Amino acid sequence: MKGIILAGGYGSRLYPVTVSTSKQLLPVYDKPMIFYPLTLLMMAGIKDILIICMKRDLEAYKALLGNGLNLGIKISYEIQFKQNGVAEAFLIGENFIGNHNVALVLGDNLLFGDSLMSNLKKSKENHRGAKVFAYRVKNPEYYGVIEFDKNDKVCSLVEKPKSPKSNFAVIGLYFYDNKVIEFAKKVKPSINDELQITDINRMYLAKGELFAEKLGRGYAWLDAGTVDGLYNASTFVKSIQERQGIQIGCPEEISFRMGYLSKNEIIKNLSNSNQYSEYIRQILNEN
Ligand code: DAU
Repeated sequence: MKGIILAGGYGSRLYPVTVSTSKQLLPVYDKPMIFYPLTLLMMAGIKDILIICMKRDLEAYKALLGNGLNLGIKISYEIQFKQNGVAEAFLIGENFIGNHNVALVLGDNLLFGDSLMSNLKKSKENHRGAKVFAYRVKNPEYYGVIEFDKNDKVCSLVEKPKSPKSNFAVIGLYFYDNKVIEFAKKVKPSINDELQITDINRMYLAKGELFAEKLGRGYAWLDAGTVDGLYNASTFVKSIQERQGIQIGCPEEISFRMGYLSKNEIIKNLSNSNQYSEYIRQILNEN
């Protein structure tokens, strides 16, 4: 399975912070936002990853993550020239995806919780249709909203409805079979001129191939795309990390735990001494 991180968009809800930089490069507490979705794909066992960003930010992403070799993965890049919507990821990424299945993660989404790694691995192995995750939120009208019947089967999906039929938002992490490319080509721009990911999910729903898993209250799903969202995500990461002494979204750690690189290979790439590299050294020595 291949993986795509969508890290473009204008970041207009974070203006003026995003006038000269990409939202997904902003820090969420102590690391760039994109580390969090990147580690989700890595934890799922996905090693071939495409980052889609705006032309302006391409060099910055390359400076941060390079070709992925330092993490034992492969990273390539494509440009999204305009904010044409989340579903455009599969048109831009068509050649990259080839005939594989693909996972898409939105660059401003954070997911944390017990058994996350095994859940992600399981989702990656599921080869038919689409797999999405639903998470209960107080303000569903800001998201794609999913409605379940009494047997927990999906009965409707609506993007940012004025009157949501449930409190369940679809989070920005999606696992698809290869039909997603064909479906993305059929999506028509919505009123805001964007190709909506919800329209793709509805096509899977119509075929009876949309599988939605409710994430329980033991999970934390955060969207760092607004001023408050960014602040809350930073506070969350800081609280958990300080309490547990372990990091959320540290790609070097995940690379080691997943067996993508050996301890020596990771140490070799750690150049200077700072809080972050000391943490990685400590984790490697403990294991
Ligand atoms: O966060 C989950 C929600 O993400 C879902 O519940 C919605 O169904 C889905 O449409 C999406 O809604 P958002 O309003 O949160 O999407 P947003 O415009 O914030 O974009 C999400 C990420 O994708 C963000 O990191 C920017 C990036 N993006 C977005 C668009 C529209 C791009 O790179 N290019 C784009 O054209």
